[in-house]
Amino acid sequence: MRIQVVPLIVLFSVSLYAAPSGETLFQGNCVTCHDHTKTLSAPSIKEIQARYKSVFHTKEAFVSFAVRWLNAPEAKSAILQDAVKKFELMPTIGVDQESLKAIAEFLYDGSS
Ligand code: HEC
Repeated sequence: MRIQVVPLIVLFSVSLYAAPSGETLFQGNCVTCHDHTKTLSAPSIKEIQARYKSVFHTKEAFVSFAVRWLNAPEAKSAILQDAVKKFELMPTIGVDQESLKAIAEFLYDGSS
């Protein structure tokens, strides 16, 4: 029994290690428009985080809305209505579901 369990644990840790973090994924896909603290061509992460947290009071609600919205951004359900008017609607970014979830969790937890 023991012999079978060990390789599973090893495999599990290797796959955890290999998965890119939400922050890395954010740097790769989102940072061109979203800075951490400055508003450039889009609201900063800090602003998005604060505005989302004032609407969604749990991490689950925050993340699930963000993932759903990012799959298909639409003006009418956007939380930052003023930003849609100011910058126009964000384009859809081609990122898989797992990565979107990791990015949304990073948006909630914030950068250190
Ligand atoms: C081409 C520029 C661009 C890129 C790339 C981009 N965004 Fe945006 N994003 C915007 C703009 C502009 C807004 C503000 C208008 C709006 O809300 O649609 C926005 C708004 C948002 C919002 C708030 C939506 C709301 O409810 O109002 C979130 C969350 C967000 N972006 C996350 C991301 C994430 C995560 C990525 C990377 C996967 C990303 N963005 C990539 C331009 C971009």
